[in-house]
Amino acid sequence: MNIVEQQRPISSKTPRQSNRRALLNKIWALIAAVAFIELGWFGSSLLKSRKTRNTQLKGIRYIEAGRVESFKPGQVKAVPEAMLFLACLEDNRFIALSKTCTHLGCALAWDEGQQKFVCPCHGSTFDRAGIVLTAPALRPLDFFPVRIEDGTIRIEITKMQRRESFDESQTTRV
Ligand code: FES
Repeated sequence: MNIVEQQRPISSKTPRQSNRRALLNKIWALIAAVAFIELGWFGSSLLKSRKTRNTQLKGIRYIEAGRVESFKPGQVKAVPEAMLFLACLEDNRFIALSKTCTHLGCALAWDEGQQKFVCPCHGSTFDRAGIVLTAPALRPLDFFPVRIEDGTIRIEITKMQRRESFDESQTTRV
């Protein structure tokens, strides 16, 4: 009598390799899910802040940010209604900076202790002229033209300007 043995298919992976692969797949799925959530959060917060700003400032070209004499060299003031900061540089020049990080668009905060802008999302930092101190952001903060008329500082909020580097022409002297 002929006995034919049925052979089981031989898998090329050991159970240990299969477990490792399953674990790696789960980790990748988790990373993808976190990245997706973060992207959604960035998108919605960016749209919300733009919508709020556009609604509040509809039809307004300039915003008054105070009197020249109320600023000391090195001082940075938030102008929340226009989503920007006004900085008085050490040489008494003024520059108005967008509050939006040039990496992925999070809202920056001015850290008085560290004397720099800090992004809460990925840690980019910028000096008071908006120049990058720490990556991942690579580009300086966008800026707005500033006018000084009879000692009053006016910021032209409809003319935000993108830049690749700092230059004195972006500032306004008293
Ligand atoms: S959004 Fe500011 S560092 Fe990424």
